[in-house]
Amino acid sequence: MEEVRIGVAGLGGRGRGWVRLLQKVRGYRITALYDWIQPLHEPALALVERKDGVRLHSDWESFLADDQVDAVALCVRCREQGAMAAQVLEAGKHVNSEVPAAHTLEDCWRIVLAAERSGRVYQLAEQTRYWGFVEAWRDTVARGLIGRVTFCEGQYIGYYGTRQFFQDTRTGRFFGVEEIPGHPEAKPTWLHEMPPIHYLPHELSPMLKVLDDRVVEVTAMSTGAPSHSHPEIGQPDIQVALMKTEKDAILRMATGFTQPVPHARGHHWYQVMGTRGCLEWRRSGHERPKMWLADGQMHDLADVDWRAERTDAPAEARASGHGDADYYVHVAFRDAVLGVRPLQFDVYRAMDTAAPAILAADSIARGSQLLKVPDFRPGAARRAGEMPKGA
Ligand SMILES: NC(=O)c1ccc[n+]([C@@H]2O[C@H](COP(=O)([O-])OP(=O)(O)OC[C@H]3O[C@@H](n4cnc5c(N)ncnc54)[C@H](O)[C@@H]3O)[C@@H](O)[C@H]2O)c1
Repeated sequence: MEEVRIGVAGLGGRGRGWVRLLQKVRGYRITALYDWIQPLHEPALALVERKDGVRLHSDWESFLADDQVDAVALCVRCREQGAMAAQVLEAGKHVNSEVPAAHTLEDCWRIVLAAERSGRVYQLAEQTRYWGFVEAWRDTVARGLIGRVTFCEGQYIGYYGTRQFFQDTRTGRFFGVEEIPGHPEAKPTWLHEMPPIHYLPHELSPMLKVLDDRVVEVTAMSTGAPSHSHPEIGQPDIQVALMKTEKDAILRMATGFTQPVPHARGHHWYQVMGTRGCLEWRRSGHERPKMWLADGQMHDLADVDWRAERTDAPAEARASGHGDADYYVHVAFRDAVLGVRPLQFDVYRAMDTAAPAILAADSIARGSQLLKVPDFRPGAARRAGEMPKGA
């Protein structure tokens, strides 16, 4: 196989973005498109240059069985996202899944077992882990320049207006809260039910890469639902998780999508503190990220021109999205499917980002109970392809 014949599932904003990008990255051919909202098929097909033979599906089973599809780009947004990724693997195909990986721990296990049993590639297409400053921070931590990491923070407090919360499922059109009174066809989307903390993989993925660590315990808190910013929306405004890692660091991470934030700052913010220094992402659009080294004769934090964009990005990566990072997930997936190189961000590391997020929401539901996070890797307690004993 010299090119990956890929079917794109979920033809919303992100799926259409992938349709464009997959044609710019060498080694892909789009052979099928799937969405249960049929009016979204033609606009997605219009973006495909080689339209001949591209199959359009509105039925999941027929899409899964399509013999023109070796790999699935999973860009749906729904409760079943994890189960659908597992079904792709169970059908003998590779899957590149959008974030978040899953919404239940059962689906995390189903993905792991299906990947192990099928030998097919599972990738969580989490791209922020490829940002330039994430690479630099990982190197700084690995070289011991800030000592032993004791504390790490991350947040994804984003605001895209309110249009992703109401949709007409016959046409695919989204509506903002101000449009609801005149549009009875606008129905609440899955995001009214999805705990915002389920989106934590976007923070855990880069920071666990920096720390080279995994979460072992989690507890969490939430503001109440519905939103205080937009009472029409069922989602709480802010959820915060406190986590302990295997290497004895404490993580504090937050998510929220319903309240305005300064656009110039961006939605993400991070800091890493160690026994001999610290690293900090910029607080506003006019600031720079910062670093302080206890052993560096430094009286104060220093500005460093770290960016999301990498200094070593190839031309192909430029403007691919999210500070050029979107390109890297498609290259990593392609190379793994074609057997060029295995994934560094493998199914176990992906579940290391998904399970703490799911358990954080479970903790909130149980009055902030402290919960243990399973290690999905096979070992003495579990053979590959089998559930752990007693689970
Ligand atoms: N990595 C990133 O930076 C990033 C950015 C945006 C979105 N995302 C992720 O991408 C995914 C899609 O986001 P979006 O903004 O395009 O959402 P969207 O709601 O605009 O589009 C999702 C599409 O999937 C379809 N869909 C959902 N469930 C389905 C099902 N079970 N069967 C068939 N079709 C189904 C919907 O009809 C819709 O057209 C989400 O998982 C989201 O979390 C990731």
